[in-house]
Amino acid sequence: MSKFKINRFWSVVATILVIYGIVKWVIPAVSRNITSLPFPLTVPGTLVFIYMALTCVALFALVTFSDEFLEEFWAPIRKMLRGEYTKAFRLLVLVAVPAVIGWQVYDITVPKVQLPSSLRIQHPSSNFPKKFEDMKNPFNEPSKDRVTAFIEQVKEDEITFIPQVQKDIDAWKEEADPDHTLEFLPQEPVKKLLAELKAEKITEATAKEALHQIDLYEGRTLYAMNCRPCHGDSVAGDGPMADGFKLRPINFTDNGTIETIVEGYTFWRVMNGGPGLPTEATPWDSAMPEWKKNLTDEERWKIILAEYDLAEKTPRIPESE
Ligand code: HEC
Repeated sequence: MSKFKINRFWSVVATILVIYGIVKWVIPAVSRNITSLPFPLTVPGTLVFIYMALTCVALFALVTFSDEFLEEFWAPIRKMLRGEYTKAFRLLVLVAVPAVIGWQVYDITVPKVQLPSSLRIQHPSSNFPKKFEDMKNPFNEPSKDRVTAFIEQVKEDEITFIPQVQKDIDAWKEEADPDHTLEFLPQEPVKKLLAELKAEKITEATAKEALHQIDLYEGRTLYAMNCRPCHGDSVAGDGPMADGFKLRPINFTDNGTIETIVEGYTFWRVMNGGPGLPTEATPWDSAMPEWKKNLTDEERWKIILAEYDLAEKTPRIPESE
């Protein structure tokens, strides 16, 4: 039986090269086939090191198995060193081996020019105008004048809503023929206010709470009309359009979002959207629209009021307080 036999030295070299090739290129290629991802899953460097170290241990055990094996392994090396393959070849090997090792060491240790990895900053503030810092949502604490005027309106039943909801409320009034417009809102503070109206002893505290419910209602409506497609019904950034964006709309219920910023910042962000973000914060690719173009200050504050309320969060308190 004729048996093809290659020298042990070359079989060791070939085994190392084949295993390295498998780990470095074959496994990533197969992974790509299995996962159908658009990129291969590379084997981590430490794992490559472990595979190669194990290969070397196994080959060392094989070569040193007997004196005969060891002799066979050394033979080509000794022959080369003695110049038996020609002196030029010996010179080539003696120059090439240190050169390759030296080049590898140089390549690993040389400082490289690399683009800095672009970390996304969720709340960049370099172009955030200071005057917004201490801004307060005017709808958090309605002024005394506003409450007094509201009480008068309640008494006269002359409450008007934002135009976006007025038509619906008018239509409802046509149909339901209520005793008072505010019956439209079923919230407890509003009911209490109507009871006080009947008894003719409206208190400022109740009026204030009912007014807050109206503001929230209007804010929620404006939110549903403008923000819901992206930020979602539950303000969790899961609106019907959300999946279409690489940079997802923010989940306001998440602890790291609107809770960690002052109200003035939220107002400024909603006002200027993605285009208003500073350039050093790129790549932003933010789909967040510039709401100052389509919503008034008042509308935006009402939405923000509803946004924090729906998310059950409170804004950060400005440093100055
Ligand atoms: C077209 C989709 C879209 C719509 C509509 C939209 N947003 Fe956004 N919004 C985003 C995306 C995407 C982000 C995340 C990127 C960013 O921070 O700019 C975001 C971020 C935000 C942030 C920043 C939150 C933080 O913690 O930094 C706020 C606040 C916000 N949106 C409020 C609103 C409000 C209020 C409305 C409605 C008036 C609205 N958004 C409508 C897409 C949208």
